[in-house]
Amino acid sequence: MEQYRIQGGNRLHGEIEISGAKNAAVAIIPAALLVNGVCRIENLPEISDTETLLHILRSLGAEIRMLTPSSVEIDCTRVTWQNADYDLMRKIRASYYFIGSMLGRFGHAQTTMPGGCNFGVRPIDQHEKGMRALGASIDVRNGFIFGEGRLRGAEVHLDKVSVGATINIMLAACTAEGKSIIRNAAREPHIVDVATFLNTMGADIRGAGTDTIKINGVPALHGGSYTIIPDQIEAATYMIATAGCGGEVLIKNVIPKHLDCISAKLREMGTVVEEYPDSVLVRSSHPLRGVSVKTQPYPGYPTDAQPQITAVLTQARGTSIVTEDVYEGNRYKYVNELRKMGAQIRVEGKTAIVEGGIPLTGALVAACDLRAGAAMVIAGLCARGTTWVEDVHFIERGYQDFVGKLRSLGADIQLVELPDRPLAGDATA
Ligand code: UD1
Repeated sequence: MEQYRIQGGNRLHGEIEISGAKNAAVAIIPAALLVNGVCRIENLPEISDTETLLHILRSLGAEIRMLTPSSVEIDCTRVTWQNADYDLMRKIRASYYFIGSMLGRFGHAQTTMPGGCNFGVRPIDQHEKGMRALGASIDVRNGFIFGEGRLRGAEVHLDKVSVGATINIMLAACTAEGKSIIRNAAREPHIVDVATFLNTMGADIRGAGTDTIKINGVPALHGGSYTIIPDQIEAATYMIATAGCGGEVLIKNVIPKHLDCISAKLREMGTVVEEYPDSVLVRSSHPLRGVSVKTQPYPGYPTDAQPQITAVLTQARGTSIVTEDVYEGNRYKYVNELRKMGAQIRVEGKTAIVEGGIPLTGALVAACDLRAGAAMVIAGLCARGTTWVEDVHFIERGYQDFVGKLRSLGADIQLVELPDRPLAGDATA
């Protein structure tokens, strides 16, 4: 068990390089199961979620060769579905992508109900609906999902815009017989990335990035080489951290268009954001202005950057209103942790009302999930005194070298082992 110890108050200065997109990587690794041959994946983020998925593939019999820490060759020629490591599958939400890729590869699938971040009910009914439309029988019992059937192209109209369901149906449909259409599809950048990966391996997918995706089934996918896009949410996190701490940071290896909604919101708060072909420069001098933020599917403001901006809005002038419109469950658990640092936030259903301009003070707080954990780190960087963040394993699921990258910008943050854990009374020292 490890914690982050953060001494708040430093402005951030310098340059930072964004890693490959987590949410693309966690779909592309299970997608490799569909590939007949060796696929080489570059710009793989070095995070625990991708490690877990590579272990699952290995447990199925895949040959995995790490060429560099961010470059891997996967050969799934000899995989068998019977040997999957279900304890690992249970840990990670993205293991639901094995439903689509196993059905496509074997005509049957067995995975566990997805784990991952717990911020309320996260049903997978739209994934099931898609698989059934393609001709599979899906049975959920005893914490497992069983799928069976020879897949045939079909039209699926999603009842809810779902990133996971859109990708899963794409995976299942790319080697199904005939043509499939996904309507009301999600449009996130990583959906386009997964489609481009599959097309590079011989699939025929059109329209990814719009709400209608058309897939012509092909008999098999072949090997190839693919580079994952930069992580939109990792970049957003550093942009928001710079806005909160003040300073000037050049965030490199990004696709600025994917960050439009973040840049627009930060500008509204009084931060300068300059865009270059593959980088953004964020310059912030206090005070920030309070704003309204409403999460929406892409190209709206991403739910995965909601906790981080809420943390910074505690420091902005005036009252801010944050509305969580993607998840119906509670994605505000971290608010209790922010309150320990002195934040004044009231949650009413899907809305958080943030009374800004009240300085935060260091405290012992928990990372409730991946993005909530990033928010607590940002709060700690903005706070007076020392903050200890517990349960950092959540953060390491999705941020490559979070501590190292922040330190390179001048943040005073370090990873400490639990024996260093302070008494609660020391926490505001
Ligand atoms: C993915 C991302 C997650 C991000 C989310 C929204 C991965 C591994 N995770 O999660 O980081 O927060 O997109 O951008 O890529 N829903 C249903 N039925 C379904 C599926 C989803 O009702 O079958 C609901 C969900 O409960 C949620 C909404 O639809 O309220 C959006 O979920 P979805 O886009 O599917 O999110 P995930 O794929 O789980």
